[in-house]
Amino acid sequence: MHEHAQPITVAPVQKLQGELAVPGDKSISHRAIMLGSLAQGTTRISNFLRGEDNFSTMKAFRSMGVPIEDDGQTVTVHGVGLHGLKEPGDLLDCGNSGTTIRLMTGLLSGQSFFSVLTGDQYLRKRPMKRVVEPLVRMGAQIAGRGGGTLAPLAITGASLSGIDYQSPIASAQVKSALMLAGLYAAGETKVTEPSLSRDHSERMFRFFGADLDTFDNGVAVRGSRELKGQDIVVPGDISSAAFFLVAALITPGSELLIRNVGVNPTRTGVIDILQAMGGDITLQNQREVSGEPVADLMVRSSRLKGIEIGGDVVPRAIDEFPAICVAAAVAEGTTTIKDAKELRVKETDRIAAMASNLRTVGAGQIDETEDGMIIQGVESLSGGTVTSCGDHRIAMSLSVAALVCKNEIQIDDISCVATSFPGFYELLAKVAVR
Ligand code: S3P
Repeated sequence: MHEHAQPITVAPVQKLQGELAVPGDKSISHRAIMLGSLAQGTTRISNFLRGEDNFSTMKAFRSMGVPIEDDGQTVTVHGVGLHGLKEPGDLLDCGNSGTTIRLMTGLLSGQSFFSVLTGDQYLRKRPMKRVVEPLVRMGAQIAGRGGGTLAPLAITGASLSGIDYQSPIASAQVKSALMLAGLYAAGETKVTEPSLSRDHSERMFRFFGADLDTFDNGVAVRGSRELKGQDIVVPGDISSAAFFLVAALITPGSELLIRNVGVNPTRTGVIDILQAMGGDITLQNQREVSGEPVADLMVRSSRLKGIEIGGDVVPRAIDEFPAICVAAAVAEGTTTIKDAKELRVKETDRIAAMASNLRTVGAGQIDETEDGMIIQGVESLSGGTVTSCGDHRIAMSLSVAALVCKNEIQIDDISCVATSFPGFYELLAKVAVR
């Protein structure tokens, strides 16, 4: 929980109606700052996500000597080139951001200076071995708590060599950490995943002129080619849109148009899942922006039914499971989620957090399994007092659940929402009909 807890009470609504645009994509915003910093020349980023996680990345690069300006419209990064970063004078605080710490661990491993990465109480509990272990195989020198498996991580820059890494998990953070290290490694750095995780790094490396090949479930990066600054327009974050998709689907009589949403196929699992549950979602005006597919999403309330969710769709919807759990809680029949063990090591254990909070607000039978959960849908939820567990996506999912409760839901602390979705409650109020 943040120093000053920010509780909220969310009341039920009649329906949701209108148009909105969600803020920029978190993953793409991180990568734009990182590659912009490492490129030669200027990178201008529009629709950058001004969330706390992305500010952690921005601050880290500023403290390594990268001039970055933000006039409130455009973020301008004056790239220092692949070898232009300077040793930071203090710890690099990644806050709550897993993407910042894991990607930076890869990037910093190949520098010629010493650095220390740390984060908030939640981040310091999250597993770092998944990046440290393959990086050490490339020659990285990394020390940390728990035998180098937990932050703070202290990195002594070293010379790296490429490896051919078969990742045991589909993780874009692991893949991207190795790709960034690969920019500094001798030879080729190859990563193969059990199924393809989000490929924003691959697309943005290519956009900046890096030397790489992609193949089924993997990528190979070769180092030393200089990157060139680019102008980037960040699409809206489908992970943020997901809260409004679920909200509109479960609230009878709703119709929402969500403009300018990134629909990269490695991210659209949530649309596939909600459509399979019977959700009426259509993609309109499909186009490509800065190497990423974008569309407007039209969503109309629908009678949802329970389904089985597992396999390759899971990494394509990994951040949307808290919201999907809310849809399942009010769907007809049983929803089974499996192959989603990764949910246990997100900002909080999202399986445990959603199971217990949904029980509190009057959901039907919910059984946790090691890699998922089984949710029996009910006609309606009652309401109650729940905890965000300091996790932005838990807080927003419970806020969506409140829209269809008989009574209100009180959430203990929503300060975490600012990590990925500043303005969430204002947008919700804008489209809510009470
Ligand atoms: C992200 C990758 C995913 C995702 C996270 C953002 C990224 O994490 O959950 O919110 O930007 O690369 P994992 O790589 O741990 O699956």
